[in-house]
Amino acid sequence: MAWIRDSTLSWFQLLCVKVIKAGKVPRHVAFIMDGNRRYARKNNVLKAEGHNKGFDKLAETLQWCLDLGIPEVTVYAFSIENFKRTEDEVDALMELARQKFRRLLNEKEKLMEHGVRIRIIGNLSLLPHDVQKLIAEAMLMTQENNKAFLNVAFAYTAHDEMTNAVRSLSIGVSEGLLLPSDISESLIDRSLYTSDSPDPDLVIRTSGEVRFSDFLLWQLSFSYVYFTEVLWPEFTIWHLLAAVFHYQRNYRHIEEIQSLHKPVEHTNERISSYLTWLYGSREDTLLKLGGKLL
Ligand code: FPP
Ligand code: MG
Repeated sequence: MAWIRDSTLSWFQLLCVKVIKAGKVPRHVAFIMDGNRRYARKNNVLKAEGHNKGFDKLAETLQWCLDLGIPEVTVYAFSIENFKRTEDEVDALMELARQKFRRLLNEKEKLMEHGVRIRIIGNLSLLPHDVQKLIAEAMLMTQENNKAFLNVAFAYTAHDEMTNAVRSLSIGVSEGLLLPSDISESLIDRSLYTSDSPDPDLVIRTSGEVRFSDFLLWQLSFSYVYFTEVLWPEFTIWHLLAAVFHYQRNYRHIEEIQSLHKPVEHTNERISSYLTWLYGSREDTLLKLGGKLL
């Protein structure tokens, strides 16, 4: 299945989407797509097939988010913890990633037409080299797009992300770019893999598990959380509409809390040059992986 599909909603679903769109639509929704293996067990198919169905559901959900006018989506596709699964399952997930990122590169026209920017967040160095290259190519190909954003957390955990940010900041200090007093909440925020994104307004976890599993722990502090029992491959537009509806009923309160906790952005020349170095070195890594820089 393609990443970007055409809308297939019935007239009644379209009507419900229209009603929900009359209210406050979240700018950024994060998904913990859980329950693929239980789905496989329930349907007597291989685990790899459960993950395949999980990908199809992701493509469908992205289309629903476009229909709803949600401009940014982040999905938890592969946690660093998932490397501890059996070799067969990890290999199957890597093969799925290979196939799907290759397919993504072939969907350039559609991605450009919808203005979708793809970002993969995570510790790419943990992935097989060919997967790293495909990811870099996808990110570079769409980096000028700015209408819709899809962030795929792959080889990601929040602990790893924060460790990486602390490492970058300490290099900044030891290289004399920063003073320890320059380190603030907002600078930590801008050192994370998600530095280009606003925090999610809504996070949805499927499969009845009620925890975050090391996903966006810094960024979800003030998000509305929606847990649902449905297994990810069985997620429907009705579950998404229900989650957005619950968000809408609570958003005034959430917005008030978010505005009280906005970190004060302080900046100076040192901070600007540290950020130029940090983002420049990320860009260089991508260019090298994508074969665009020798
Ligand atoms: C959680 O279900 C799901 C995963 C670990 C993988 C999610 C991956 C996809 C939906 C495909 C996305 C692929 C790309 C290339 C973006 P689980 O395996 O933990 O199932 P369980 O909770 O029933 O054991
Ligand atoms: Mg699970």
